[in-house]
Amino acid sequence: MANTILTNAREAKQDEFYTQYYDIEREVEAYLDYNPDVFRGKTVLLPCDDPEWSNFTRYFAQNFERLGLKKLISTSYAIERKQERYGVQLSLFETEFETKSPKYDKRKSRFHGKIFVLDRDENSDRRIDIDDLKWDYLKGDGDFRSKEVTRLRDEADIIVTNPPFSLFREFFAWVVDTGKRFVMIANKNCVTYKEIFPYIRKNVIWSGRREWAGGMWFETKYSGNVDKVVNGVDMKNVPAIWISNIDHGRRHQPLELMTMADNLKYSKHKDLREKRAYVRYDNYRAIEIPFTDAIPSDYNGVMGVPITFLDKHCLEQFEIVGATESEGKGFSAGLWYEESGVSQPLINGNRVYKRIFIRKKQ
Ligand SMILES: C[S@@+](CC[C@H](N)C(=O)[O-])C[C@H]1O[C@@H](n2cnc3c(N)ncnc32)[C@H](O)[C@@H]1O
Repeated sequence: MANTILTNAREAKQDEFYTQYYDIEREVEAYLDYNPDVFRGKTVLLPCDDPEWSNFTRYFAQNFERLGLKKLISTSYAIERKQERYGVQLSLFETEFETKSPKYDKRKSRFHGKIFVLDRDENSDRRIDIDDLKWDYLKGDGDFRSKEVTRLRDEADIIVTNPPFSLFREFFAWVVDTGKRFVMIANKNCVTYKEIFPYIRKNVIWSGRREWAGGMWFETKYSGNVDKVVNGVDMKNVPAIWISNIDHGRRHQPLELMTMADNLKYSKHKDLREKRAYVRYDNYRAIEIPFTDAIPSDYNGVMGVPITFLDKHCLEQFEIVGATESEGKGFSAGLWYEESGVSQPLINGNRVYKRIFIRKKQ
């Protein structure tokens, strides 16, 4: 019980981590590199956002014309609904409008979500950009599960966001079966959740372009939770990744690998060089590959690789056949592999932690 309360509190704090402009730009540009028209004529929805200061809204508004967007919609969650509150921070839009426009409403500004829309040159400066954003209060609190925001989801072609970590599974389910394109931030461990892994296995969704190593740095307003301070901004490092169903070039670049014999002779990993053969699981017909760069190029059977393999997975090189299920609980959960019939891969009686099972494409 106490553990659950602590976990909930930790997750609620992570709900208020804000993505850096550079991370959004680098990720989105990778999809554009692969297909320059991927956003052309599309309506992009940024739910669970904080449009007044969000880098998601800033990036898509500033690049509206270059991307060829039809419409940008961004919504925020009511300040009074947020699990972690740091005092009400009125947006520029509202404070300006407090004196200039009747739109500002003291009560609504606390209890309602907001919607920002960009679809035309409002200020007649012959450009569509961030200065043309229109805003209003939503009827409700901006919860992505509300009918109001769900209607916006249905209107959109592409959904991009960093959803609240505490509601990640619900958010994923809200997006994935709609047939919409999406790019979202997730915790790295989510790839073995039973609600998510089947989509990865079938190549319905995949890792975004960004490498997983090193995690991602987010801005945080929770002062007890800071890893470093950059220009006065508190930053937190999180094992976060991008997941998406939009194609990018790295998915089609095969890993350069050595043969099994060469790995055993020349691998940079001493552990492997000291072995005469790759280790087999006690209870599952597959070999254990402790490092992605030690995957042999000439083995045709099933191989258990670290989950970080997924950020290097090339569609044409390997198929994904299974995974250990972690559910974020590590060793306590069983193996999720529908054909294996074993609960957990073992080596010399010891359980093996978080593996993706792959096989070379023939
Ligand atoms: C991880 S933060 C990301 C914020 C922002 N998009 C960014 O990365 O810069 C998640 C946001 O979702 C909001 N949120 C929490 N629960 C929500 C819900 N049920 N519906 C919509 N938004 C929610 C949080 O208040 C927070 O602003």
